[in-house]
Amino acid sequence: MSTDSADTNPAPANVTPIDPPTLTTKRLVIRPYRLRDADETARLAGHEKVVDTTLNIPSPYTPDAARDWIGTHDEMYQTGAGVSLRIGLKDSDAHVGGVGLRVNSRHSKAELGYWIAVDHWNQGYATEAAGAMLEYGFNTLNLNRVYAHYMMRNPASGRVMQKLGMAREGRLRHHVRKNDAYEDLELYGMLRSDWQKRQQGSSP
Ligand SMILES: CC(C)(COP(=O)(O)OP(=O)(O)OC[C@H]1O[C@@H](n2cnc3c(N)ncnc32)[C@H](O)[C@@H]1OP(=O)(O)O)[C@@H](O)C(=O)NCCC(=O)NCCS
Repeated sequence: MSTDSADTNPAPANVTPIDPPTLTTKRLVIRPYRLRDADETARLAGHEKVVDTTLNIPSPYTPDAARDWIGTHDEMYQTGAGVSLRIGLKDSDAHVGGVGLRVNSRHSKAELGYWIAVDHWNQGYATEAAGAMLEYGFNTLNLNRVYAHYMMRNPASGRVMQKLGMAREGRLRHHVRKNDAYEDLELYGMLRSDWQKRQQGSSP
C-alpha cells in the first residue's frame, strides 16, 4: 500500500532514470502499463473491495482517470521515482493486478504496493508478483531496503508480506484516514542482506 509520507522523494541531485522492466515468473508476465490497459485497470482496480484497503486508487475509477495515471509513468521512469507494472497471466494475458515500487533514491529504499483483481484472489498471484518485484528491486535497482504497510483489517496482505520473508517492524497507529476512519497500519520491511540470505538459503 502506498501511504502518505514525510519520506517523499526529495529532488535528487543525480536522477537515475529507470528502464521499465518486464518480469516473468512461472505463471505471470509483469510488464509496464500501456494506454490500452486503461479500461481494464479502471474496472479491476476500481472494484470496491480493492479500493477498500488501498489509499491511492480513486473511487469511482474511470477509464479516463486510469489513462491519465498511465500517462504519468514515462515521467516516473525518467525521474527514477518508481516502477508500476501490470500483472498478467502468462497463458491468457488476462489482467490480474498491479505491483509497484515507489523509490526513494536518497535512502536507497522503496515502498512496495500491490493489488489483485477480486476474481483471482488466494491463488498466490500477489506473492508471486511481489516476489519478482523484490528481486528486481534488490538485484537491478540495487535497493538497500524495501518496506510495505497494510491495514490491520487486511490480513491477506500481511500474509503476502510474511510469505515474501519480510519482517514485521511495528504498528503505525492511526497512520492514515480512510473513509473518515483512522486506520492502524502494520509495517513490514526487508533489507538487501535479508534478501541475500534468503536467496542463499533457497539455492540447492
Ligand atoms: C491483499 C491481496 C493483494 C492478496 O492477493 P492474493 O493474490 O490473494 O495473495 P496470495 O494468494 O499471494 O496470498 C494471500 C494469502 O492470504 C491468506 N488470506 C486470505 N484471506 C485471509 C484472511 N482473511 N485472513 C488471513 N489470511 C488470509 C491466503 O490464505 C493466502 O495465504 P496462504 O498462501 O498461506 O494460504 C488482495 O487480496 C488484494 O488485492 N486486496 C485488495 C487490495 C489490497 O489490499 N492491496 C494490498 C494493500 S497493502
